[in-house]
Amino acid sequence: MRILIVGNGGREHALLWKLKRDAPNAEFFATRPNGGMAAHCQPVALAPTDVEALSGWAAAHRVDLTVVGPEAPLASGIVDRFRAKGLPVFGPTKAAARIEASKAFAKDLMRGAGVPTAEYRTFTNLEGAEAFIRERGAPIVVKASGLAAGKGAVVCPTVEEALTAVRSMLGELEFGEAGREIVIEECMQGEELSVFAVTDGAHCVILVPAQDHKRVGDGDTGPNTGGMGAYAPVSLATPELIERAHAQVFAPTLAALAKEGAPFTGLLYAGLMLTPDGIRVVEFNCRFGDPETQVVLPLLESSLLELIATVAEGGSLAGRRARQRAGAAVTTVVAAGGYPGTYEKGRSIDIPLGLERDDLIVFHAGTELRDGRLVTAGGRVLAVTALADTFPRAADESRAAAARIAFEGAFHRTDIGWRERARLETT
Ligand code: AMP
Ligand code: GLY
Repeated sequence: MRILIVGNGGREHALLWKLKRDAPNAEFFATRPNGGMAAHCQPVALAPTDVEALSGWAAAHRVDLTVVGPEAPLASGIVDRFRAKGLPVFGPTKAAARIEASKAFAKDLMRGAGVPTAEYRTFTNLEGAEAFIRERGAPIVVKASGLAAGKGAVVCPTVEEALTAVRSMLGELEFGEAGREIVIEECMQGEELSVFAVTDGAHCVILVPAQDHKRVGDGDTGPNTGGMGAYAPVSLATPELIERAHAQVFAPTLAALAKEGAPFTGLLYAGLMLTPDGIRVVEFNCRFGDPETQVVLPLLESSLLELIATVAEGGSLAGRRARQRAGAAVTTVVAAGGYPGTYEKGRSIDIPLGLERDDLIVFHAGTELRDGRLVTAGGRVLAVTALADTFPRAADESRAAAARIAFEGAFHRTDIGWRERARLETT
């Protein structure tokens, strides 16, 4: 079997790691693999968004299954293109990927389907947006509707900050086309949960929920990032809560997409907030989350490949379930100094020999091999995942291992899972 992975970050390294365990004899390919993926697959020198060339390459190389990591190629129709050529591919079509690519579309869909989410209005006109903010007051949340690499949402504690945010989005086009339309919504309070469902468009297999850490600094301080660490399972995510997420969020959203003529196949990621009034959707993503994937997949005991291949080949997931291993996983991201702002690349990375074990996996994100030397090539450089029988052990192991990885400017959060730790300490 020949499997192509599109993308080269920490999430894609985790997908490669898991699929390789599921199919040790398969041949793996990846687009511009990072320094950790390189030893486990053959490189394809094409950009993930070069959809035309990729579909041609996959056809010429008789690829049996393509798994798409990032949202950008999905939003530009990679799945439609592969399907048109009869190539099995895991991911949503361009029309279904709008659930992430257009927040205005996602919000309208949720409203129509009765899926609980923050109250909102969409605007393309600055004066209208300003008047709405003044009328509603703060705190309030301003979001670019289009894809903005995780930077398009601004939680505004004051009216002034909200006015500044809409002026830079609609007035100065800070996010370009992605911010020509904006969503202004009610600010919700509560803990966030990332829930992944592998879906054939009608049935879903929900994987173990995880919690991300978006702020760059300990204690959830500083600017937002792509995610500085994650853990799973989250004790708040009881079987009863997962059942409610299925009934209130996944089932009606999938039904509404199908009714729109855009059935969603692939991985639907619901970013939930657990508010005092119940579950609310913060956002949907049309792909696996990063770094949540680096804890969710190591905890998945049953085959991911079986689920993904079934969906890619147009089969049904009716009656399927995921089997999860016992214990906990924690991942700590080691980032380059300056991230999420500007940072240096090309720094030599030292990972001590013997650090990596069966229960300690170093997933590479922004790394590359240069003349056989491992160097930094991005802001989030590595994600260090520890598996253990209990959450505190996994957290301690992940943190200790992250601290042993060295490159100039390296830093990491030392409190991944602090909410879970606090919960465990009070119960
Ligand atoms: P998003 O890009 O929509 O995932 O938003 C990024 C982050 O902003 C989320 O993970 C939340 O922490 C925060 N956020 C987004 N929308 C809201 C909201 N309506 N209320 C409170 N926080 C929000
Ligand atoms: N960790 C957040 C995301 O993948 O969108």
